Amino acid sequence: MGFRIEGAVALVTGANRGIGEALVDALFAKGAAKVYAGARQVSDLAALQARHGHKLVPVQLDVTQPSDIQAAAARAQDVSLLINNAGVAAHMGPDFADPTWLSAGRAEMDVNYFGTLQMMQAFAPILGRNGGGAIANVASVASLVSFPPFMAYSASKSATHSVTQAARLLLSGQGTQVFGIYPGPVDTRMAEQVPFEKATPAAAAQAMVQDIEAGVEEIFPDPIAKEFGRLWSGEPKALEAHVAQMMAA
Ligand SMILES: NC(=O)c1ccc[n+]([C@@H]2O[C@H](COP(=O)([O-])OP(=O)(O)OC[C@H]3O[C@@H](n4cnc5c(N)ncnc54)[C@H](OP(=O)(O)O)[C@@H]3O)[C@@H](O)[C@H]2O)c1
Repeated sequence: MGFRIEGAVALVTGANRGIGEALVDALFAKGAAKVYAGARQVSDLAALQARHGHKLVPVQLDVTQPSDIQAAAARAQDVSLLINNAGVAAHMGPDFADPTWLSAGRAEMDVNYFGTLQMMQAFAPILGRNGGGAIANVASVASLVSFPPFMAYSASKSATHSVTQAARLLLSGQGTQVFGIYPGPVDTRMAEQVPFEKATPAAAAQAMVQDIEAGVEEIFPDPIAKEFGRLWSGEPKALEAHVAQMMAA
């Protein structure tokens, strides 16, 4: 089906840097009428505000805070595209027995899974009233196969993927399209220590927005992601071997 960006009103979480910031630029480049930019610190949105002026509406939004989510939903009643981009990778390491996996994993689940779920619950009625609209959840290639050095993050992103599938079915009756986005490495603060080739945030965001318009339900926005998408859709078990090869290299 596809979702028309031109003239649309969107909300992007984690919009102050990285992929989120690039998504806001990509939405305006495609003709979005207004973007609510969510950030934990609205002062971090100054550069975006300078680029886009009054069409950019800063919103105080920590996706782990129900009061922030409710306030954002009360204010952004005209949204027809919700992009859940906010995410954390709280721990990386080689030691399976490290107790940090538990505390970091809870923090990752809080943002990457429960934050995404709660945002969808708060905005689904708004999208329904506005004709159905669309939700796009930024998951990861790590949603589809575990990256052992990021094992708790991978689990949280699997949960993002799972709830994306659930929402696609549960919200289809109100006409809401639900997209899952599965990036490979993108050159942001989150991926600073990732040793693989990285897409630029701008290129990844442009590909995401283009595929939302084209109605691609599972979006693989960069070359590494596309290879994961190819294996996942044809040969899911081969993904484990593919990651093992990447780690060995
Ligand atoms: N970079 C990659 O290689 C890659 C690959 C696959 C998927 N992803 C996903 O892409 C999304 C964007 O990541 P990124 O690469 O752009 O990383 P990033 O530069 O670290 O940006 C993360 C964004 O999420 C925000 N955030 C973190 N916790 C939040 C919370 N509780 N409430 C609201 N916002 C919160 C951050 O805000 P603050 O500035 O306040 O911390 C920041 O704006 C994430 O979901 C990530 O998992 C990234």
